[in-house]
Amino acid sequence: MSEPVIRAEHLVKEFPIASKKLGEPKKVLHAVSDVSLSVPKGSIFGIVGESGCGKSTLGRSLLRLETITGGKVYFQGQDITDLSGKDLLPLRRNMQMIFQNPYASFNPKQKIGSALREVAKVHKMPADQAEEKIRNLLHEINLPEDTLHRIPSEMSGGQLQRLAIARALLLDPAFIVADEPVSALDVSVQAQILNLMMDLREKFSLTMLFISHEMTVVRHLCDQVAVMYLGTVVEQAESEELFNNLLHPYTQTLMSAIPTLDPEHKKQRIVLQGDLPSAIDVPPGCPFADRCPKCQPQCRESRPQLKDVGNNHLVACHLVG
Ligand SMILES: Nc1ncnc2c1ncn2[C@@H]1O[C@H](COP(=O)(O)OP(=O)(O)OP(=O)(O)O)[C@@H](O)[C@H]1O
Ligand code: SF4
Ligand SMILES: [Mg+2]
Repeated sequence: MSEPVIRAEHLVKEFPIASKKLGEPKKVLHAVSDVSLSVPKGSIFGIVGESGCGKSTLGRSLLRLETITGGKVYFQGQDITDLSGKDLLPLRRNMQMIFQNPYASFNPKQKIGSALREVAKVHKMPADQAEEKIRNLLHEINLPEDTLHRIPSEMSGGQLQRLAIARALLLDPAFIVADEPVSALDVSVQAQILNLMMDLREKFSLTMLFISHEMTVVRHLCDQVAVMYLGTVVEQAESEELFNNLLHPYTQTLMSAIPTLDPEHKKQRIVLQGDLPSAIDVPPGCPFADRCPKCQPQCRESRPQLKDVGNNHLVACHLVG
């Protein structure tokens, strides 16, 4: 099998927390703890989980927008874990990010055309090639050429997110992190953007980490899915396997929280008890123990390890496998 585009081995990212009182021991926030994954060329890897579970930090660490505390990150086989800013520069055009809020990712005063040309120029793409590429991409995202003369406030959120996607594709990146690219948009527009991403994925054979807090969104778009809880992966499998066979109590809870309009298929709603625990003082046992409807005494004593329970389906729960 060919080398995956991106591979993380036991990735750890911690943030130091300033002490509140003089003499108080230093604390760390465990944003990402021991995450391993690999994204093959042309595939979309979904990361799903509640707010604060470490999704964005994981995405930013893979792109080396963060320093890495532990573990390894490989991009196209190259170890990029400890590369410095200067050595990362040549890789930047090959790794792009699409953000949640398109208005925040464009300069409000700059015309769209100028913003797109600037990206091409920074990465030394010849001007005539950039012009052709920009026009082709506008066609792919179904926007007219006069869009290039507009400023962001003259575009809708959905149109601007299409442009953010076009901007990410301009340099033919080998890897894209899309961080909740539809969650700031109206529901009707979300479906359009997801359909566009599915089309572009086929056409450009995109390799992507797709971050979302919604199970339904990752289900339709992603080949593999990892469910994160408090910085760790609690369940991971190929999308079809995962959604046909939800094994971890947390994933089951996330799925049951999705409202269904069909009364025939009304699911038994499981409601999450308590708040997401702090990532600073992480409990010694299962991180989900305080909220898990199936919690047993052993769950508070030792942390369940992520293990393969068959079909490359990984689960971290004492009661599974
Ligand atoms: N620069 C930072 N310094 C300190 N803590 C940080 C920093 N960035 C993120 N964190 C913390 O790391 C944890 C994970 O944050 P992250 O933004 O990765 O979560 P997320 O899953 O993307 O959440 P959301 O769905 O709200 O975007 C959180 O507890 C957050 O407060
Ligand atoms: S290990 Fe225990 S607390 Fe954790 S998810 Fe499994 S049953 Fe729940
Ligand atoms: Mg985030």
